[in-house]
Amino acid sequence: MVGRGSLKAFGEWLSDFPYGRIAVLADENTSLCCFPILQPYLPAGSVLISIQAGEQHKQLSICEMIWQQLNAHGFQRKDLLICLGGGVVTDIGAFVASTYLRGIPFVQVPTSLLAMVDAGIGGKTGVDLQHHKNRVGTFAFPVCTVCDPVFLQTLPVREWKEGSAEMYKHAIIADAVLWSILKEHPVHPELSDEMLERAVNVKLNIVHLDPLEKGLRKVLNFGHTIGHAYESFRLSAGDPVSHGFAVALGMQVEARLARRSGCLEEEPYSEIIDTLRQVFGAADLSGILYSELMHWMRFDKKNSDARISFSLPVDIGNCVWDSYADPEILRETLLSFNALEG
Ligand SMILES: NC(=O)c1ccc[n+]([C@@H]2O[C@H](COP(=O)([O-])OP(=O)(O)OC[C@H]3O[C@@H](n4cnc5c(N)ncnc54)[C@H](O)[C@@H]3O)[C@@H](O)[C@H]2O)c1
Repeated sequence: MVGRGSLKAFGEWLSDFPYGRIAVLADENTSLCCFPILQPYLPAGSVLISIQAGEQHKQLSICEMIWQQLNAHGFQRKDLLICLGGGVVTDIGAFVASTYLRGIPFVQVPTSLLAMVDAGIGGKTGVDLQHHKNRVGTFAFPVCTVCDPVFLQTLPVREWKEGSAEMYKHAIIADAVLWSILKEHPVHPELSDEMLERAVNVKLNIVHLDPLEKGLRKVLNFGHTIGHAYESFRLSAGDPVSHGFAVALGMQVEARLARRSGCLEEEPYSEIIDTLRQVFGAADLSGILYSELMHWMRFDKKNSDARISFSLPVDIGNCVWDSYADPEILRETLLSFNALEG
């Protein structure tokens, strides 16, 4: 369910509810801002479980606390967990639901832009492990996903911008029309149902063709090989950056890698770089050593051997996966963004 009015449709869906009881997982912000919007559609006796907000809490210890609460409330296999929040809540909640009692049904109600167009759809669940992003997780698919912009009213402006990073990514890898729309219309405050639907559909179509990421789905990782490495580095340094910021940075670096590797022509490359710089600022890797970036990139889940695998655009709207960059070109590219030697 995507677009304005989908929460109401979800309410109707819930009234034919074939499940038992309902628990809602939210974080400290979405329990205040979003739960009151959802609550009128819930049956009496629904339970709210609230966790602290932020990537640093996307951890197994938090899952244990949620499992314990579900257990304490006597939740059983037919009961339902609704994940109400940004990507941290949708990733943790889906993981908890997919493992509690070996799996209970869950619904994704993403409330950040990033979660609506990406994290809340596609069936990837998980938590971080010792600063390694999404190291522990499952593939598990919700019984329903509700992407209603009604929740975005309270989203801080910074989160709008960073959430739009995944929309730009979807446009670059698979939807040149969405790219043209995004170039003309800033996502905040002009988000239209068409923009939201196009961005969601890019992900849905890809996941439909390759749910378990055997091939095509890897294109969704454009910007993430560098982005996740940078995010992990900052998380380990106790100075986390948002996922959207890291992906915006990663897309600029990986677009240059694609250009230098000869798979992306100058014109689309310049268009990608100029647009991303305008929206997110110029990518800057100063303060991180080349060797540190390589260390974190080696943990990337797309790697199948010692080589680092990238998903790289070959044009606007078209992307390839399993691309192994020449080590010297990769090194020069990273250093060109002010990464430090060593
Ligand atoms: N599973 C996947 O396929 C997938 C894909 C992309 C990203 N992710 C994950 O998603 C996470 C990032 O998601 P995110 O950017 O949504 O981060 P987030 O969940 O931390 O949300 C960002 C902030 O916005 C707040 N917030 C969310 N909705 C709000 C609302 N409606 N009103 C007010 N405040 C609100 C949250 O409380 C939080 O403080 C990362 O952990 C990333 O790894 C997962």
